[in-house]
Amino acid sequence: MKIAILNGPNLNLLGTRETSVYGSVSFVDYLKSLKKEFQNVEIEYFQSNIEGELIDKLHEIGFSYDGILLNAAAYTHTSIAIADAVKAITTPVIEIHISNVTNREEFRHNSYIAPNCIGVILGFGLKSYKLALQYFVNSQ
Ligand code: DQA
Repeated sequence: MKIAILNGPNLNLLGTRETSVYGSVSFVDYLKSLKKEFQNVEIEYFQSNIEGELIDKLHEIGFSYDGILLNAAAYTHTSIAIADAVKAITTPVIEIHISNVTNREEFRHNSYIAPNCIGVILGFGLKSYKLALQYFVNSQ
């Protein structure tokens, strides 16, 4: 089974960025633990701060992978282009957020992407990624 994790802008700074909101573990370290736990899953990781690169990646993998975990970060709340890309592909996408965006600033409450995803997991810290992976593994 092939699953991709796509992280959007500023998520390369996890571990040092606003640690009271996002925690102090880097994504690279978290990914190591995920790969250890899900040894039967081929996990590809891609992070970009550039909207078009995220769209290109969705096009590249979105017809062959079994699932995509997408944390588009701030683009969640602004990007019709990423929402359209998610709609255009056939691989099911789960929207992920580390923080509970529903109890943060108003501008974080809207997601252009969520209506085109099979579901959304938010507010469980980095564990949000694990919960989404478990969904794909269990629905195999
Ligand atoms: C985030 C929430 C977004 O509102 C924010 O812009 C991020 C991270 C999260 O994972 O909680 O960069 O997607």
